[in-house]
Amino acid sequence: MGHTTIRFPNDQSMDNLVIRGGRPLQGTLAVSGSKNTALPLMSAALLTDGPVKLTNIPDLKDIHTFRRVIEVTGTRVDADPGSHSMVLDAGSLVRAEAPYELVKRMRASFYMLGALLGRMGEARVSLPGGCAWGPRPVDLHIEGMKALGATIDLDQGYVVAKAPGGRLRGGRMTLEPSSVGATINILLGASLASGSSVIENAAIEPDVVHFCTMLQAMGARIDGIGTRTLEIEGVDRLSPVDVANCPDRIEMGTFMIAAAIAGEPGSPVQITGGDADHLGDAFLEAFQRTGSTYEIDGDIMTVRAPEELRPVSIRTDIYPGFPTDLQAQWTVLMAKCAGNSKVHETVYPDRFKHIPELQRMGVNAIIVGDEVMIEGGKTIQGTSVMSTDLRASVSLVLAGMVAEGETHVLRVYHLDRGYERIEEKLAAAGIDIERVQYDEWADPG
Ligand code: UD1
Repeated sequence: MGHTTIRFPNDQSMDNLVIRGGRPLQGTLAVSGSKNTALPLMSAALLTDGPVKLTNIPDLKDIHTFRRVIEVTGTRVDADPGSHSMVLDAGSLVRAEAPYELVKRMRASFYMLGALLGRMGEARVSLPGGCAWGPRPVDLHIEGMKALGATIDLDQGYVVAKAPGGRLRGGRMTLEPSSVGATINILLGASLASGSSVIENAAIEPDVVHFCTMLQAMGARIDGIGTRTLEIEGVDRLSPVDVANCPDRIEMGTFMIAAAIAGEPGSPVQITGGDADHLGDAFLEAFQRTGSTYEIDGDIMTVRAPEELRPVSIRTDIYPGFPTDLQAQWTVLMAKCAGNSKVHETVYPDRFKHIPELQRMGVNAIIVGDEVMIEGGKTIQGTSVMSTDLRASVSLVLAGMVAEGETHVLRVYHLDRGYERIEEKLAAAGIDIERVQYDEWADPG
């Protein structure tokens, strides 16, 4: 295809993935620990002054970024990516700051606001700035801290938060819309507050539930875990704990879709180490309505693609609704099966950066407002496509697996933020995929 391959030692940012489509997916795919759960678990370690041991932490760029954010505070972090474990000791925490240079790389760094306010009674945290797929406000996080008693000032792009008297007092907050991140931030602040707090319309995503369970194990007093109303009675101190992270539900869902589009009809593809309950009913039901099947035996899920996939329209929603983080991947599944379907995005109405790239691969999909109309069953063609964000990137990989010819997915650093060694996992399961280093500015000849 005329690409120039150049080696850049120590620089992964230019990596791309080359996929030669049409090979069947077979064998086993193992699910790693959840990225979106690991981040709040790491934040919780800041609330105590002893060593917290976390296991099943995925070896991902976002985790490395957040480790650096945490280290800025003086917290000691010993990570062993090989064994997926990490020990965080915030006994030496001295600096209540999260700098722009790191926060801009990953929005979840904003969890430092609640963690530092809770632990230190003050925080200076950069505002995260823009997001690839449209506006992602943090107003609810800030209102939440105010509700807990903090004063908030904006200073040159930083949120400067202070708890009068050095300790948050607690308070009541209704989240509209329900927000995963704001629920976590408020819990971080409220757990060590002097009084009680209530979060109405709290998020009930499995990430939040697992995080609450960790806080409880540390000594936090939280009622209503897994419901829309969380009641938190602040305590004076929290204790160190050892906690196992839960599996990545979005990686599991991505693998199920991979099996449905690229598995040989009727042949088993096994997905190990996941937890299907974390995917929510809407996704699991929609998946079965495509004609794909799954069986669960302990932590092994066996997926079989049907002879003929059926189109199924979906609408993203908060848990247990269809996860927005699986919307881009679902679009590829719909492109693969004959017939018309609709993907309606209600959580992030602009989250369609993958569509123009999929169109370049021959996918017949058009964006109408917050919906995508797909006419499936057309031939998907390999070409060079660009990653724009994490889930968009993986949708391009999925499309490449079933495309005619060769697909180059450029700028896979987005993928490295949230999928651990995905090309190795897929290659071991029969997909012709390799990582190459690539200079996008070189003359393609
Ligand atoms: C988390 C996930 C992300 C996922 C999203 C929705 C992490 C690190 N990221 O993001 O992968 O796509 O949940 O499941 O866990 N909102 C506001 N104001 C706020 C905060 C949010 O209006 O202050 C809105 C958002 O614009 C969105 C909705 O609330 O429409 C839900 O977003 P939220 O649950 O907060 O997503 P994140 O926690 O940022």
